[in-house]
Amino acid sequence: MEHNLPLKKILISEKAINKRVKELALQISRDYEGRTPVFVGILRGAVLFYAELIKNIVIDCNIDFMCLCSYEGTQCAGKPRTILDLREDIANRHVVLVEDIVDTGATALQLLEMLKIRKPASVEFCTLLDKPSNRKVEIVPKYAGFAIENEFVIGYGLDYNGLYRNLPFIGVLDENKQ
Ligand code: IMP
Repeated sequence: MEHNLPLKKILISEKAINKRVKELALQISRDYEGRTPVFVGILRGAVLFYAELIKNIVIDCNIDFMCLCSYEGTQCAGKPRTILDLREDIANRHVVLVEDIVDTGATALQLLEMLKIRKPASVEFCTLLDKPSNRKVEIVPKYAGFAIENEFVIGYGLDYNGLYRNLPFIGVLDENKQ
């Protein structure tokens, strides 16, 4: 079966992702030893990363999800809207926010503001990809899988117009091949 992909190149292979996610999970497990963190997955982009990450977490934890909407195509559509909120009460809990990518940082900042009101013991960011050169607000994720250039990427949860989230690797979008 042919899958016609609008790709300039594959940026990060499935093997490299899995290796790095295991390292991150081990680091987080060590950092949170003796505590029971809540891993909050940000839907939909974090879905593959989230599943791979928590499979490799070796301490007790809770899982929960939020869904925000911020992008249309490759363009940011302004302030992110909440589509789905948490079920867990995060008061006095240690929260690890699991994101696909931190780009301008606007979504991350919005999430922080939303969660801080609920008085968690701590909140840290864990993102698979970080685009530090495109940052518009001051956010430094504590856990980041890969720092990448300012290019639009697809795959491993990341979409372009709703497609390509299912790709098991991360590639750079070629808009001319659309
Ligand atoms: P930020 O608010 O600009 O940091 O963007 C965060 C969200 O934008 C991410 O959770 C993604 O859903 C989306 N996003 C940013 N860059 C890309 C990209 O290169 N590919 C796909 N989605 C992206």
